[in-house]
Amino acid sequence: MTNFVKADRLAEVKVSEIVVMSEAARQRRAEGHDVINLGIGEPDFNTPDHANAAAIAAITDHDTHYPPIAGKPELRQAVAELYDGRGGIARGAANVLISGGSKYSLLNAMLASVNPGDEVIMLAPFWTSYADIVRLCGGIPVIISSDGANQFRPKLDEISATMTARTRWIMINSPNNPSGAVLTAGELRTIGDLIAAHPQAMLLSDEIYEHIVYTDQFVSVADALPDLAERTLIVSGVSKSYAMTGWRVGYGLGPQPLIAAMTAAQAQGTSGTATIAQAAAYAAITGNQSVLKTRKDIFQDRRDLVCRHIRAINGLNTTIPDGAFYVFPSWQSCIGWKTREGKVLLNDMDFCQFILEQANVVVIPGSSFSMPGYFRISYASSTEELDEAMRRLADAMSSLEPN
Ligand SMILES: Cc1ncc(COP(=O)(O)O)c(C=O)c1O
Repeated sequence: MTNFVKADRLAEVKVSEIVVMSEAARQRRAEGHDVINLGIGEPDFNTPDHANAAAIAAITDHDTHYPPIAGKPELRQAVAELYDGRGGIARGAANVLISGGSKYSLLNAMLASVNPGDEVIMLAPFWTSYADIVRLCGGIPVIISSDGANQFRPKLDEISATMTARTRWIMINSPNNPSGAVLTAGELRTIGDLIAAHPQAMLLSDEIYEHIVYTDQFVSVADALPDLAERTLIVSGVSKSYAMTGWRVGYGLGPQPLIAAMTAAQAQGTSGTATIAQAAAYAAITGNQSVLKTRKDIFQDRRDLVCRHIRAINGLNTTIPDGAFYVFPSWQSCIGWKTREGKVLLNDMDFCQFILEQANVVVIPGSSFSMPGYFRISYASSTEELDEAMRRLADAMSSLEPN
């Protein structure tokens, strides 16, 4: 028998419902069912050819030794140039840390700044990992819900009351996973003013879906809050924009002392990001950008298709998301409805398991994003698959008996 005892820091880090749903889907597939997975948060496109070619060239050129811990200078510089001069602020390579995915940028940021008991404010719905990364670093997630009935606008007036002397960060994500909501310049200003009023707090803006926006409304904090540049960390990466999830390259852009502290954390983690992946990311960021537009247009058509179907289904309702590649419908009006087998649907997991069993479609419970009563559909799948999945979803819903 092992004498292994899990570390305290993992006590509240649970297996996510996304993992539970993925396991359930795997199981059903193994049983021979034709499962359509709309639970995945990654584009179904290929990495651009020029990025692949750069990686191959890095290998043949023997660029295969330890990387500089903070990232290759040319990649750091290229990222800095994406932001340099915006809002009148100069940014250089020293403001940038390259990490193994933007998720690792988030972890580095929390490792570098959060002491046990420090608080991090996050606006629900938010990407599952935020709260767990904060807990892993000994911090306390402080959750503020947005208004689902009002396009998931954050309840900004509630933030101020939750800020304390221990608030280290406000974390925002626009466009948002899972709601697709895009924060306006006015909303960013309100959040910025709260940061300005609390000298111990900083703003973390996760802009990983910045290129997947269907309105002209997206505003980066680099443009909206230049006065707070020294108190802001922008996190983004190549995963979603360039379909490079497997390369694991993300970055953080922020004040030099924070970037230096994050680099110190990364030095004891990965020692830096794979040289080959960095070569591919450099090519993606500095090369032909036409994929951004063509893929966004495809995503927009799929979003429209999914929303049209959802709005026609009795019991479901959705806003039309402005960005990212998710739809986040409400199933609240069917809480308490009964399946043919007599099971009463009481919570998000009941609902998503019912959809999996009845329709063979994987969707993710809203509770995974701290927003119960909703579920997330990823439309990073072909039109044919989405059409079929929506047909099955409608059939499954029509089999329910309202209470
Ligand atoms: C909001 C958000 N931030 C960050 C990430 C992490 O992306 P990556 O680590 O691939 O850069 C994801 C992935 O799903 C996400 O949805």
